[in-house]
Amino acid sequence: MEVFAGRSADLKEGDRALIEHRKQQIGVLRAKGRLHAFLNLCPHQGGPVCEGVLVHRPEEIIAEDRTYHGMRFTEDLHLVCPWHGWEFNVETGRCAGDGKHGIRKFEVVERDGDIYVVV
Ligand code: FES
Repeated sequence: MEVFAGRSADLKEGDRALIEHRKQQIGVLRAKGRLHAFLNLCPHQGGPVCEGVLVHRPEEIIAEDRTYHGMRFTEDLHLVCPWHGWEFNVETGRCAGDGKHGIRKFEVVERDGDIYVVV
């Protein structure tokens, strides 16, 4: 079943929208040109994870001689829950700190200028 989530023109890069479906919220966002949709419910304590900031995953730079050379941002995007900071990979929905946790991800279809979430 597809649920209408909005017009494509209204969801530009970095934008997001919240839709209601059967008393639950689903967040839809466009990041790096792709659409993603997640249940707006953090597995930690139920926070509104889809309302959190998007950040590039940081990583430490360790040389072959094991010396530390600072940090850099990767291309991986993480959605950060606004309540306690748990981070979720936007591509997979898996928690960055512990991959056994994750947010529910939905397929998104963009057709004829409209966006639909498959529920
Ligand atoms: S409720 Fe999301 S990090 Fe705690």
